[in-house]
Amino acid sequence: MSFDDIFDASFRRVQVPSGKRVSFFEAFYRNFLMSSPQVRVLFRNTDMAVQRRMLKKSFFSLVSFYASGTVDDVLRKTAEMHSARQLNIDPYLYDLWLECLIDTVRE
Ligand code: HEM
Repeated sequence: MSFDDIFDASFRRVQVPSGKRVSFFEAFYRNFLMSSPQVRVLFRNTDMAVQRRMLKKSFFSLVSFYASGTVDDVLRKTAEMHSARQLNIDPYLYDLWLECLIDTVRE
């Protein structure tokens, strides 16, 4: 099995709704918001239902970047938006983001 196949199978599995378990992206944002007051401040005015859909859509761009090294328009816009010129997301928050993502997969 190639890395791509393993990723695809895993991504499909985590998105299968199961009983009363919340969706993958909902669980991810719960974990992420719990992880730091800084994160809660940044999302204090955010409609999290919209945010979950945006992240889900941008995941495709992240995966294709990993697979091919190509930066598409979605990823370019996301990077610009998170940069020091706009949201000014502190780099350490990306480590936290990734840790929360891995924890959510594990759960
Ligand atoms: C690779 C990791 C990340 C991806 C793929 C990502 C993706 C996105 C996307 C797609 C949006 C919506 C953009 C739009 O409205 O057009 C967004 C908005 C946002 N992201 Fe991220 N993000 C990442 C990391 C982070 C981190 C580490 C933080 C830090 C807390 C963060 C905070 C925010 C905030 C505050 C917004 C704006 C929310 C609003 O509109 O109120 N993001 N992100």
